[in-house]
Amino acid sequence: MAPTRQYIDAMSNTPPLKARKVSFSWDGTPLHWVPGDPFTTHTINVLHMLLPAGERWFVHVYKQVLPLIRDERLRADVIGFIGQEAMHSQAHDEVLPHLREQGLDPTPYTAQVDWFFEKLLGDRTLPPGRARRWWLLERVAIIAAIEHYTAFLGNWVLNAEELDRRGADPTMLDLLRWHGAEEVEHRSVAFDLFMHVDGSYRRRVRTWATAFTALVFLWQRGARFFMENDPTLTDGKASFKQFYAGGRRGTLPATGDMLRSIPRYLSRDYHPSQEGCTEQAVAYLASSPAAIAAVAAVASEKGAA
Ligand SMILES: [Fe+2]
Ligand SMILES: [Fe+2]
Repeated sequence: MAPTRQYIDAMSNTPPLKARKVSFSWDGTPLHWVPGDPFTTHTINVLHMLLPAGERWFVHVYKQVLPLIRDERLRADVIGFIGQEAMHSQAHDEVLPHLREQGLDPTPYTAQVDWFFEKLLGDRTLPPGRARRWWLLERVAIIAAIEHYTAFLGNWVLNAEELDRRGADPTMLDLLRWHGAEEVEHRSVAFDLFMHVDGSYRRRVRTWATAFTALVFLWQRGARFFMENDPTLTDGKASFKQFYAGGRRGTLPATGDMLRSIPRYLSRDYHPSQEGCTEQAVAYLASSPAAIAAVAAVASEKGAA
């Protein structure tokens, strides 16, 4: 249960994580916020349906694991992580009424996602002891694997200049980049927590397979759902070919980059600090309109107090 060497090295000089309270106004965001590209728009829109339930589930699981943490700095970062993920969940949730107003009701899909996280991956009626602990550790490891992908996507969106070139909606880009930057900022927490409470390599491989399969399944299902239910499309379809083409254009992550990220996570030498760039993430958070507004709101609250 000792903190990992990597944890000490990576974290000794960085301030503890903190949540930034942000809010976005969606009034001016068009349905196809990547102009003329409904497939890219909806493939990224899947995040708004997956993340609220997924990140609420992270918070739920992490609150249960807090008593197992024997390292004060790691505990502080897990608490910061919980605050950040709760804020991400809320921010994406707030996009859904806007989609409904534009004729795209996500409820049938979000109901499936809720079932997945709340029932399939939820608490089971297990007696206290080994079985309950096994299921908790299994979920902690699943979160570490998912966080490998949230950091991957965060790093991608921070650098996805093609979205700017194509005139993507600035508010949506700010949501994605604010979230992506915090994912890069806290990318080591879930893995370090997993290593601290368990760290079994077999569990890492097994839960990576579970997380990857679930993400691919849910994501393609969500993209198909949005394309088929988009009120402006007569025959909306989603295919891997379109995804691959989006990756080649730079409006979506490249398939090759995604495939190359797999052996990195499964390497015994893996540590998330090797992925993405903290300086870039922190620089974005210092310039993000939503994050700046959040800092100003906190300052004026303190001034008024
Ligand atoms: Fe997040
Ligand atoms: Fe995260």
